[in-house]
Amino acid sequence: MRSLLFVPADGGSKLAKAMASGADAVIVDLEDSITPERKPQARAAALEFLKSESAKAQRPRLLVRINGLDTGMTDADLDAIVAGKPDAVVFPKAEGGSTVVHLDAKLTAREAIAGLPEGSIKILAQAVESAAGLFAAGTYRDVSRRLIGMTWGPEDLSAELGAEANRDEHGNLTEPYRLARNICLYGAAAAKLPAIETIYADFRNLEGLRRDTDEARRDGFTGRLAIHPAQVAVINEAFTPSPEQIAKAKMVVAAFAAKPGAGAVGIDGKMFDRPHLVRAQNLLARTGN
Ligand code: COA
Ligand code: MG
Repeated sequence: MRSLLFVPADGGSKLAKAMASGADAVIVDLEDSITPERKPQARAAALEFLKSESAKAQRPRLLVRINGLDTGMTDADLDAIVAGKPDAVVFPKAEGGSTVVHLDAKLTAREAIAGLPEGSIKILAQAVESAAGLFAAGTYRDVSRRLIGMTWGPEDLSAELGAEANRDEHGNLTEPYRLARNICLYGAAAAKLPAIETIYADFRNLEGLRRDTDEARRDGFTGRLAIHPAQVAVINEAFTPSPEQIAKAKMVVAAFAAKPGAGAVGIDGKMFDRPHLVRAQNLLARTGN
């Protein structure tokens, strides 16, 4: 998934717009964009939306962001939406593998009640958006076969730290949030999961989004959260490997295949060893090559 577009569950016409945005996934939000008084209506709207969209053939993946385990609202969220067969839930303020195991169990019970195959609803963990979450980011390996990725968020983190800002005057993340971003990358790599870059809040600044997203891809993120339909094309393009990159990856794979047992090969006067091969294979797998 390259682009994952948030839309508030009570967003009315925004829901259809999100579906038509070109995003690889639409995340119907029950958490931060919904006030506590509106949660019940939002849950009902999310279910109605899922029921009308989930059976369609050509569609983005449908995700629902539920409320976190410490809110007391998780059960009501799941009770409301599982029957709509979302592809996955987005799990905010995850605090390590044990919290995913907890959510996994809640999903298993509701899948049984709804007659869905066990494990069919996946989990995308917002793993680094609290201080405790940051310290638990290395504990996600093999905890649940539902886990499809890890992401992070500076907004809740900066609220928790009591910080004045999380980006400097040039729009770059300040040190504490750079650290959180990087820990998300390492945590995801340690768990062998895709790392999904957080939102870019300045949604009119597509130039800034492009730069920031190019850096995310350079560093190993494979997709990004979006909050506005205008961001989707920029994100999709940034995470779509160019024909040159695909050709280069095929060349690396072919060079190793031609020399079985070789630990390193030379291509055009440059050394390529195992890490290069793994990177090339990952890129080809991601693009269906
Ligand atoms: N999904 C679908 N459609 C969206 C959208 C979204 N996330 N954000 C904006 N749109 C639609 C608007 O409804 C508007 O439609 P219209 O032309 O028919 O009126 C159009 O795109 C242009 O929107 P624009 O005027 O530029 O923005 P806005 O002021 O209406 O909305 C936000 C700004 C931030 C409120 C809106 O982008 C939004 O709701 N984003 C998601 C918020 C969210 O889910 N947050 C939680 C995760 S961090
Ligand atoms: Mg949040």
